[in-house]
Amino acid sequence: MSTRADRDMAAYWDRAGQVWVEHQALLDRLMAPIAEAVIQAAGLVNGDAVLDVGCGAGATTLAAAWRTGPSGRAVGVDISGALVELARRRAGEDGVEGVEFLLADAQTEAFDPTFDAIVSRFGVMFFPDPVAAFSNLRRALKPGGRLTFAAWRAPEDNPLALVPLRAAAPFLAEPPRFEADAPGRFAFADRERVAAILSASGWREVEIAPLDVASPASFEELMTMSLRVGPLNPILRAADEAVRSKVEAAVAEALAPLVGEGGGVMKSACWLVTAKA
Ligand SMILES: C[S@@+](CC[C@H](N)C(=O)[O-])C[C@H]1O[C@@H](n2cnc3c(N)ncnc32)[C@H](O)[C@@H]1O
Repeated sequence: MSTRADRDMAAYWDRAGQVWVEHQALLDRLMAPIAEAVIQAAGLVNGDAVLDVGCGAGATTLAAAWRTGPSGRAVGVDISGALVELARRRAGEDGVEGVEFLLADAQTEAFDPTFDAIVSRFGVMFFPDPVAAFSNLRRALKPGGRLTFAAWRAPEDNPLALVPLRAAAPFLAEPPRFEADAPGRFAFADRERVAAILSASGWREVEIAPLDVASPASFEELMTMSLRVGPLNPILRAADEAVRSKVEAAVAEALAPLVGEGGGVMKSACWLVTAKA
């Protein structure tokens, strides 16, 4: 059954997916070490069947497919049509074997219980009913199957989440807020909440460890991430020119100290979560 919250999230990712398509190369470069950490921790081997949840443009699915090889199977699932289309195109261009992409809601899709592993880079924090979603995902695994995902820690630990918003806030009627227990980017920031969701959905041997990554990024790339990819994007698109230029100037001033002579970095503070079905 599709609820109002499900439909809201699907509509949200329909729009946000277009932004991720536009900035896919930058996002993939900045977040490549996080995909690597997930794939490494998942311990994939040749011949494994792996499901990448909230696969977006498919970077993690493709990285998994190289590990599972032509005798394996890497399936990316995502709710955004634009991102699934891009992921399929990239797989075709890269000529990777044993990879496929599915346009579906991972919370409710009845997956065949044939997977050895589930992986995700930032694709599991958006479920309206996380316990239902993680119970559903557990059923996709063979007995003993493994779950490995990365999720953001608190906005306070992620400068690129908070610095631009604080700089923009004085110029916005309604500055965006992060809600700790609503579906969204920081829904899994609280370690206890993640542990409770996984335990309530039947996962065992849950381990939640900090993962910290610093990716080189130019000032322009940090501006793009702040203004075009994050939550300021829809607000600025709807704002008038005067507000837009004040926000852009304030964000540029706030980001300047993050960029030294050798360039800047995007620091990502995440949880690396592993569990068994
Ligand atoms: C932050 S993006 C991460 C994308 C990708 N994993 C990456 O790292 O580039 C979150 C992704 O989760 C997808 N998503 C959100 N809710 C979903 C759901 N219920 N089922 C499947 N995908 C979902 C979104 O469409 C989006 O592509």
